[in-house]
Formats: sequence, C-alpha cells, structure tokens
Amino acid sequence: MRLDKFLSDSGLGSRRHVRKFCRHGFVKVDGIVIKDEAYKVEPSINKVTYLDEEVIYEEHFVILINKPKGYMSSNIDEAYPSILRILPEKYAKRAVLVGRLDVDTTGVYLITDDGKLANRIINPHFGFEKEYQARLTRSLEEKTKNEILLKGVDLDGDIVIPKKIEIIEPDLVNIIVSEGKYHEIKRIFKRYGNEVIDLKRTRLAYITCENLKEGEYRLFSEEEIDKLRKEVGLPSYEEEFN
Ligand code: URA
Repeated sequence: MRLDKFLSDSGLGSRRHVRKFCRHGFVKVDGIVIKDEAYKVEPSINKVTYLDEEVIYEEHFVILINKPKGYMSSNIDEAYPSILRILPEKYAKRAVLVGRLDVDTTGVYLITDDGKLANRIINPHFGFEKEYQARLTRSLEEKTKNEILLKGVDLDGDIVIPKKIEIIEPDLVNIIVSEGKYHEIKRIFKRYGNEVIDLKRTRLAYITCENLKEGEYRLFSEEEIDKLRKEVGLPSYEEEFN
C-alpha cells in the first residue's frame, strides 16, 4: 500500500498532513528517509517510523458476532461481561459498538472501529431492517398480529409499526422492524399482555450470521466493508483517501 495511506490509516492525520510529513523527511521506512508519499510499503514486512517512533498499522475493521446470551452490548463490564470480552484486545481497544442488544438476546451484532459508519447504521434515516425471531409465553393470535400491523404500538409517544410479523408456531414469531428502540420487541408484545422469553436477531439489513455459531465472530472483507459503507452513503476508504 502507499506510504501516505499507511500513515493516514494509522491515525497520523489526513492524507494532506501525512504527505507533508513525508516531504519534510519525518518518515522512514526500514531506517531510510522516504519523501515519496506514493512509496509502496507492506505493513507486515516494513518498519515505518515517524520522527523515529514506530508507526503501527491499524486497518479499519467491521466484525460480525453471533452474540451469545450473557454478554452486554457495552464497552465495559457491568452486571454482565462486555461483548468485547469475546474479541482479541487489538480489536476490543478500538471498538465502537453498533447499537444495542439486550443481555439475553442472541444473534447478529456488529462492532467496528469506524464511528461514522456505526452512527449511520443505527441512524433511523437509513431505515436498516432488523429481523428477530421471538419465542413468546403465550400464542400470538392472528387477530392481535393484524392489530399490531394495522395500528402499531405506542412506544414513548412514537407509534411503531412493524414491517412484518409472521407466525411460525403459535408462540414463535418472526418480526421485522426498522427502528432500534430500547427493548423494542419485548415492549411491542408486552402491550398485548405477552412476554418474549427468547429473542434472536436473525438479520440486520442483508447481514445474517450464516456459518457462525453463537459466540463466534468473523471479520468483514474489504469488499464487505465497502458495500456496507456504500449502503449508508459513505465512499470506500480507498475513494475517501484519493
Ligand atoms: N428488542 C428487544 O426487546 N431487545 C433487543 O435486544 C432487541 C430488540
């Protein structure tokens, strides 16, 4: 990769700034001053320094976790351990959590170091669909389902109308919403005297936990990150950089 991209990705500043650092001779690659900002470096091989301090390359990341029960979507341990406990320290220390899932909710959960991307994914303006599978204490009657879909449910003064509810078994439903309100699914059913006893997020937009067991995670590829950024109106890192 280009030296200026390496330096900028590593948090040294905008591409304009880091190019100046190169031209002023502040940057060395393997001990040799490199003034050409387009010089090619390989992070796992070359040692890059700025004012003789080593620069550690930190690539942007998006991680998809199949969240297990018993972890909080919080950066710190509280009543339960933080979801970040599942990740290696190098990701956990730079992590921005993308929204919240309750401690007893499982399924699709994203973590990134890219705060702008995280904010956009949770911004209702982009209307990312969230699909959940909910096990209820009581059967959901067809009549109640239709009433929820027709009238919606008042949550904190906002009428929330799910995009879809599908009864799979009398007490097991698929429900799609596009808001991200606190305890949204549990509160929707509670209004009708029903309780959610098991909740799994099966989809966020087009993202599912295919091939990931609960507690497992995987890193998004560069193409997957570009696609996600595009969905929320952000250029790829490469385009942003050039
Ligand atoms: N709705 C809930 O009630 N809980 C969650 O974790 C997510 C959506």
